[in-house]
Parts: sequence; structure tokens; C-alpha cells
Amino acid sequence: MNNEVRQILVTSALPYANGSIHIGHLVEYIQTDIWVRFQKMQGNQCTYVCADDAHGTPIMLRARQEGIEPEALIARVSTEHQQDFSDFNVVFDNYHSTHSDENRQLASTIYQRNRDKGNITNRTITQAFDPEENMFLPDRFIKGTCPKCGADDQYGDNCEACGASYSSNELKNPVSAVSGVKPVDKESEHHFFKLGNFEQMLQQWTKSGHLQNEVSNKLDEWFEAGLQEWDISRDAPYFGFEIPDHPGKYFYVWLDAPVGYMASFKNLCDKTDLDFDQFWGKESKAELYHFIGKDIIYFHALFWPAMLSGADFRTPTAIFSHGFLTVNGKKMSKSRGTFIKANTYFKHLNPEYLRYYFAAKLGSGIEDIDLNLEDFSQRVNSDLVGKVVNIASRCSGFIKKRFNGQLSAELSEPELFDEFINAGESINKHYEKREFSRAVREIMALADRANQYIDEKKPWVIAKEEGKEDELQAVCSMGINLFRLLIGYLRPILPATAEKSEAFLQITPLTWAELATPLTSHAIAKFKPLMTRIEATQIEAMLEDSKEDLVAQSTTQAKPNKALKKGHLAKDPIADTIEFEDFAKIDLRIARIVKADHVEGADKLLQLTMDLGEGETRNVFAGIKSAYTPEGLEGKLTVMVANLAPRKMRFGLSEGMVLAAGPGGKELYILDPDEGAEPGMKVK
Ligand code: 2FM
Ligand code: ZN
Repeated sequence: MNNEVRQILVTSALPYANGSIHIGHLVEYIQTDIWVRFQKMQGNQCTYVCADDAHGTPIMLRARQEGIEPEALIARVSTEHQQDFSDFNVVFDNYHSTHSDENRQLASTIYQRNRDKGNITNRTITQAFDPEENMFLPDRFIKGTCPKCGADDQYGDNCEACGASYSSNELKNPVSAVSGVKPVDKESEHHFFKLGNFEQMLQQWTKSGHLQNEVSNKLDEWFEAGLQEWDISRDAPYFGFEIPDHPGKYFYVWLDAPVGYMASFKNLCDKTDLDFDQFWGKESKAELYHFIGKDIIYFHALFWPAMLSGADFRTPTAIFSHGFLTVNGKKMSKSRGTFIKANTYFKHLNPEYLRYYFAAKLGSGIEDIDLNLEDFSQRVNSDLVGKVVNIASRCSGFIKKRFNGQLSAELSEPELFDEFINAGESINKHYEKREFSRAVREIMALADRANQYIDEKKPWVIAKEEGKEDELQAVCSMGINLFRLLIGYLRPILPATAEKSEAFLQITPLTWAELATPLTSHAIAKFKPLMTRIEATQIEAMLEDSKEDLVAQSTTQAKPNKALKKGHLAKDPIADTIEFEDFAKIDLRIARIVKADHVEGADKLLQLTMDLGEGETRNVFAGIKSAYTPEGLEGKLTVMVANLAPRKMRFGLSEGMVLAAGPGGKELYILDPDEGAEPGMKVK
């Protein structure tokens, strides 16, 4: 490795300005922050910028829903996001917004340069339009009956019941999720980015070490499918930037979102002596890295380099993609309480625990990582509290009491110290390559070695023997020095614990280079506990709190609002009230599932034969295959809507509906009446 100071600019994906940061987001911010802290510790000039992603229809509608201007919403959310990041010690050199002058200017420049080079084309397209709200509707804001399986209340782009993808004009009985009225088709002129113009450049770029191998292989599929023109404009009303040569048309949020990386950096340059062109100019020698989730690879690995290159800016050095977070092996779930907001976690647990656990799990690939809560507390308690912090507490008392805080003048075991220093080289490489789990494994092996040393030397025994003062000081000074190295190596992961340790050691913030110089003839401060154990009760309380977040959220979402009919918009709203007469129209009956079968050609459906008592049976298609096997259902009692008008589906006639609760997938629960209920009984 050469000793030149590298100039590095790093970004994490910009969070949308209409939602809270949750632990799933934190995987990326913590991963990036660790890498940035590592680079800074190396003495490199590393700048980490981020911003809120403030534009788009969902943000515009969310502001309306709250009865405030979008500017007020994004200002509030930005403050919340920044508080969350700072709570988790994710430290940016600059945090900005895509709704900023810098971004407007840069997005316009990128657009104009591409337009002048013939990379933009205009054409008229037909889209769903809400005639009551006078707005075009993104697919996500159209709901209706799935054209494939007949499931109701599905989004305009895909069906959650059968998994089919389709376009919104195929949806049956479509309604606008904003007003509830039927959308009409309307024409409008749109601007398209001609991605195909960059095919050759992208073919080359995506195979030249800028992407992880698995990502670059994935892109091959997209190249094979052909690079489509990308619609970069939206009609009013829209919260975003107007297109310079086309009043009334706005840049699509994804056009100006990545430009937000540049804008945040520009904003920083204007406050410091950093030079924008040195980083973004075509000939830039600086390194540029984007950390992102694997769901937004298309935007970052195709559109973004193409837009930049078409506008004569440099392209990224690398895109680092990561996987998603699961909790206890499953997708984060609101009902299980595992959809944990950053702020909810922070109320119950030390952020350093999560930083450590994520680091211990993170590699350089795009596999998902799992937060197993049992393993989490076991690992934190045994590694950090039991091994690392323990070394300092085992040695510091003697140094403080018997030697007035003074460490010995020389290291008694220089070979052991060197062993630790030599291990630094491979730890360094793992950090550089984002193989944090490997770095952690090696650091913990050193922690075991340090504890073994102390166990062998038994300072608590030496302390009782006469005339062994020097030996006691030497052993404890060795222990403190080994602790210092461990903390140095863990510093990118545990910045707060490192700071506390530095205060205890009475040293300035550790850099990688100075680790090799031991701490001798130096006074340390009184030891204060650096970290406490995780208690099971803390985790339980956090999960409970997360469930409460959900209830609170549904309740606020259910508040009536003039501008937006909420019941349509929110995914799981507690619906507006209905009259008793309305409820009485629904004939809910106890029924027994006497037979359950797979349905050929349907991914999500099971065919159920329901016994309604007195010899009456019904055929029902239910979208519960993701959660139940036919064998697991036969014989079960449940509740069905008995007077639903029969619906003709591709697979046959469905004569009723089985009720199930939950967000979908494996998390679907059919209702299960208590013992004593019998088929045919009315549910009231
Ligand atoms: O997927 C998201 O959450 C986007 N807000 C990420 C944007 S990253 C960048 F392009 F701005
Ligand atoms: Zn469907």
C-alpha cells in the first residue's frame, strides 16, 4: 500500500423525506460510516455526504395528508433523520437536501448537457389520470382487482395475492388511491433519457471493476433484455424541479436524487476549501464511492453513470451494494414488533451494540444479513463486555491504586505487542475491502489472546505477593496496552466506546499509524465502566414499543382529511367508521375447511371447500398459499364472508371469502374460532 493521502468522496443512499429511519436503513449507514471512519483513521482525506431525497408524488401527498406544505414536511423529517443518524454515531461531513439550489442547478446542467447531445427525446404517452384531483397517477396510487387472480384491492403494478406484474391499464375496476374515483386515460408529452445511446459505454463500464461481480452478472440480464428509454419527466402537480425548457413539467424524483450526492458535496465545497471540480471533473483523480441497497442498482449502475458521462462529469469509482436486513430470519414485521425504528431502538439499547453486530455480520457481498436477537445479545455480551472491556477493568484498578495511574516505562512482552501490531495489517485489508465480519473475527481472536495473557499472569495473585510491585505494574501495563490496540482496531465500529476509552487512557483520538507506538510512562485516568450487558428485558421492551409505534401510526393515519381519502392511501389503515347497518350487511359465518387443494398455475391461491353446515358447501379461492399448506388447513374451523357475490376467476367460481389477517407472505393468519363454534353459526 502506498503512503499517498487518498482523496475519497463517499455517499450513502439518500433517505426519502417522508418516513422514519429504521434498522433496515441503518445497515447501510453504519456500513458506510465504519468504512469512512476507517479511511479517516488511515489519514486519508475522506468526505462523507448525504441528503434527504425530498421530491416525488408520495412526499407531495403525504404533506397534503398532514395539511402542511411539502417544504415544512421535508424540513421536519430532515431534522428527525439527522437526529437518528447522530444517535447512531453516523457522522456525515455534510447533510443536505435534494430540494436545494445546488441540486436544481446541477440537475438542470446534467439535463441540458444531455439534451444538447441528443440523449433526450420527447414523445406523447397515455397515462392514468385522476379527473377529480387533476393529476396523473403513478401505478402505486391506483388500486383495483388483479387481472390475473381476481384479488381485490391490489396496486396498479403488481398483485400481492398472486405475485403477477402488469401495467395499470390491465387492472380491473381501477380506482385512484388519492380520490377514490375511476381514473381516465389522458395523453401527455414526456421527456425520455435515451439509455440505449450509452449501451457500449455501459457494457464496458459495468465490467471494469466498478461493481461487485454478482452485480455485474445481474446487469447482463438487463443488457440482454435491452436498455429501455427512461421517462424522466412528470406532470404537475408534482413536488420537484420544473424542467428548464418545459414549464409545467417536472424532473422525475429519480432524475435529481443521485444528483443530490453532487449537490450535497457542492454545498460543502461552498463552506470549505474543497474543490468541486477536483472531485467531479471528467479527469478527476479522486475516488468516488456510492454505498447502496441492492434494490436500487439499476439506477446507480446504469442511469447514473450514463447521465454523468453524457454531461461530461466523471463516473463513480465503485458502487458498493449490500443486501437487506432480516430480523430473526424473517422480513421485518410490524406485527411481530421487528419493524424497529432507529429512534425506538435508541430508547432501549446502546447503538454501539448494533454497530458491532452489523459489523460482525457484514461482508462485501449483496447477501441479506440477519439480526437474530438472541445471538445479538449473546455476542455483544460475550465479545464486547466479556472480552474487550473486561481487559481494561481487570488491569486498571491496580495501576490506579498501586501506581498512581502510571504505566510502566517499558513493555515487558514486546513480542506479544508485536503480534497484535502485525495482525493489524490483515485487519486493515479486511476493512478496506468491506469484509468487516473478517476484521471482527480477527480482532476477537486478539481479545481472546489478551485475556489468556492476563489469566496466565494472574495480576490479582501477584498483587498479594510481596516485592512483586514491578511485575504487577508490568503485567497490568501490558494488559492496558493490548486493550488500547483492540480499541484502536475497533474504533471505526465503536466510535463512542473508543472515545470513552481514549478519555480513560488520557490520549488523543487514535489513528492507525500511531497504534504501533506503545503507551509507556504514561498516566491513565480512573476506569469507568465502558459498556453494560444487554438484558433480555431491554429487547422485549423494544419489541413491545415497536408494536405500539404501529398502533400509533395507524391511528394517526386514520384521521379524516379533506384533501386525501386516507382509507385508500394507507396500506393498513384503520378504516373510517361505518354505520352498524353497513356492518350488518356482511354475513360472516363459521365454516369448516373440509378440503384444500393447490391450484394449477396459481402461485398464491389455494382452492378450499368450505362446509357451512346443514349440508351446504362452497368453493372458495383464497390467497393464503404463502402461509398455509393444504394439509395444514383441512379440518380447521374458520370464518368466511358467506354473502359475497360469487366471482368468476380464471380457475373457477369463488363463492365467498375466507378472512385472514396480516401483511401477507408467510405472515397471514386465518381466523380461528374458539372451541364450541360450529359450521353455519353467524358471527355477530
Ligand atoms: O430508495 C430510496 O430510498 C431512494 N430515496 C434512494 C435514493 S439514492 C440516490 F440516488 F439519491
Ligand atoms: Zn393476483
